[in-house]
Amino acid sequence: MNGRDLVRAVRAVGLVGAVQGLRAVRSSWRRRRADAVGLRPRGPERARVPGPVTGAEPAPGGGVVQFTRSGLRITVTVTGAVFWGWDGADPEPSYALAGSCPQPDPRAVLEPDKDGGWRVVSERVTVVVSRHGAVSVCTPGGVVLRRDLPPRWWEPADGGEARWVQRSEVAADARFFGLGGRASGPRLRDGTYRLWNTDPGGSFGPGDDPLYLTMPVQMVVADAGTHLVFHDNSWDGTVTLSEGEEGAGSGHDRAGTCEVRMEGGPLRCWVMVGAPSRVLRAWASLTGAPALPPAWALGYQHSRWGFGGEQAVRRIVEGYRERGLPLDVVHLDIEHLDAFQVFTVDRETYPGLPRLAEELRADGVRLVSIVDPAIKAEAGNAVYDAGASMDAFVKDAAGRAVRGVVWPGESVYPDFTDRAVRKWWGGLYEERLAQGFSGFWHDMNEPVSFAAFGDPTLPRSARHSLEGRGGDHREAHNVYGLCMARAGYEGLRELRPQERPFLFSRSGWAGMQRYGGTWSGDVASGWPGLHASLSLVLGLGLCGVPYSGPDVGGFDGEPSPELYLRWFQLGAYLPLFRTHAALRAGRREPWEFGDEVLGHARVALVERRRLLPYFVTLAHLARRTGAPYVRPAWWGAPEDRALRDCEDAFLLGDSLLVAPVLEPGADRRAVRLPRGRWYDTASGQAHEGPGQVLVDAPLSRVPVFARAGAVIPVRGEDGELCLEVWAPAQGRTGGGVVVPDVGDGWEAPDVQRYTSRWSGGSVVVERQDEGGPAEPAYPVRVRGL
Ligand code: NOJ
Repeated sequence: MNGRDLVRAVRAVGLVGAVQGLRAVRSSWRRRRADAVGLRPRGPERARVPGPVTGAEPAPGGGVVQFTRSGLRITVTVTGAVFWGWDGADPEPSYALAGSCPQPDPRAVLEPDKDGGWRVVSERVTVVVSRHGAVSVCTPGGVVLRRDLPPRWWEPADGGEARWVQRSEVAADARFFGLGGRASGPRLRDGTYRLWNTDPGGSFGPGDDPLYLTMPVQMVVADAGTHLVFHDNSWDGTVTLSEGEEGAGSGHDRAGTCEVRMEGGPLRCWVMVGAPSRVLRAWASLTGAPALPPAWALGYQHSRWGFGGEQAVRRIVEGYRERGLPLDVVHLDIEHLDAFQVFTVDRETYPGLPRLAEELRADGVRLVSIVDPAIKAEAGNAVYDAGASMDAFVKDAAGRAVRGVVWPGESVYPDFTDRAVRKWWGGLYEERLAQGFSGFWHDMNEPVSFAAFGDPTLPRSARHSLEGRGGDHREAHNVYGLCMARAGYEGLRELRPQERPFLFSRSGWAGMQRYGGTWSGDVASGWPGLHASLSLVLGLGLCGVPYSGPDVGGFDGEPSPELYLRWFQLGAYLPLFRTHAALRAGRREPWEFGDEVLGHARVALVERRRLLPYFVTLAHLARRTGAPYVRPAWWGAPEDRALRDCEDAFLLGDSLLVAPVLEPGADRRAVRLPRGRWYDTASGQAHEGPGQVLVDAPLSRVPVFARAGAVIPVRGEDGELCLEVWAPAQGRTGGGVVVPDVGDGWEAPDVQRYTSRWSGGSVVVERQDEGGPAEPAYPVRVRGL
């Protein structure tokens, strides 16, 4: 144990109490011993590079280029996505892929290139392979978007798992985004980012990395084009990014670089090229359409760790009601469980849970339950007994269930990489449904085992099924949360086939959007935490996970009234709008911060409710197109460099630009507008983009702009859907999509397209039906005239 470990050990005791702290110390030693026995120490290694090209074998969509010491498979698929894999790596098996791999593009053909290299030319992309194994992905016009240099492997002489590194170059002006949920973004600055899902322990701020949800997915935006690159490998690794520099016309640009280093696993990659919307569409078609949350999950949600029991929950719900504040969901954290055991209820503090759920539901409030994966390792605990009898737990190298320490004490962990275990676990949600819960909040699933020192998770030597292939935690760790989400989602689909499941999960990996969303985790109360909140949502959206949001107010401590309000105002425009706080943290009810804050929070809540039909539409669009609800300002104009560097505003769908206040004491702020006309929705004043404007941002609201021509579905005063239309600029047209709520089931939505235009001095709004233009299906209100 070194000095840092000692500090952690003391902290662990402080965080979880003396008994748990001692358990954590014991468990950390156990973990260290398990790995000492279960993992072979890395002996001497041999470095390898592909060597010179020796030939090529065509196959549908591309083929295999042979080098003296490796082979490179390249396939261009019908979606335009490019796959390449070294050493015979195939796209499958993969935890990220949604099902079967997209078909090869029959028109993409492998042909000889100059200097002995090879290339695959297709309609949307050209892939050039040099004779030493550098792979360049180019636009159809031949501009290089990314050049992956020949990789290098280090192979243990005794035949263990090879480590590898690959360096890539991108344009000097390129900016990096993504890599899952990163607190320091959204633009990822120069530095090394680790790919290992990690509970930072306590709360986190922008300097903390990695966090709960990492993924080897990068979005790279440059003048020449946008591309997404995905290294399909779940092992531990790092990505080191360095932005390039332009030589101010001297012709001496320094390329941006990206270096991916992995501790094992295949070297295989997917690249998607095109406008951001096209790239995300291709990504969603590869890894799966985002799950569609029920409309109530797009409302306002209140959570806290430690309400103090059923009566306290009722009082809070009543508090919202008597102040006329909309509330849609309440979340119950671990305190409602019997001794923190999953799928149980503490009957002392929650004696009538199904009744509470019914009452709340009658008042239009749903109940969501926390679900942790770790199971108290104690005979007599029904979930433990059932899991033990079917051999469901992650094991050590000697075949015994691995034990860790979480809230219930000594715990075991279901192996969600085993289909039978997923099936069993999915069935356990029946108990939650019977308690009246409508949604599920997966937590601690990195997975966490409290550690006094070392990594706060399972031993790397722990054995997993990995769908019957067999392997250890080094490979399974990063997909543990993803597989748990799958188990929950599939279980709920069987238990309640008529309802769409609602779940969100702290940890996950590429493809998790198929099952649900995520949230920030324990973001620290403070202005940096507020920044981090937006960064996480934007970054995750660009990795294909569109539904997320922070703990409004921050997880720990007591936000100042101003900070709380600014967080609340930001949250009102994010998909998951939820206040949450830690056990000993201050209150988060809007009325706890004085009358002024309460008044302004009410405005934010009412506006959120008014925008609900727009959020529902964005949820459907995310499912249909992969486009996140919350998009960076550069989404429609990645070539606008100033927008690429804009980190304090975002687009909500196509129609709104939201400029939250992220600094204390501000009552005005600068906003960079994309091109076109934008209306300040508070004053109706029109501004012409591209450019920067200085606007009022009083405590009462944050600046929101509407795009000229936008058709936005909103909830009218009578609760009915109506269309808010912002006048197009003279001589211009506009439009929007409206997808009315179809309830919580699986009914196919009616996707309506609207246009707006000027005609004879007034704005005309039409629905574009298959039969031609038609009257709008809803009342229209034109603004910005
Ligand atoms: C950690 C989660 O991130 C947090 O939101 C939750 O309140 C605690 N676990 C207790 O369940």
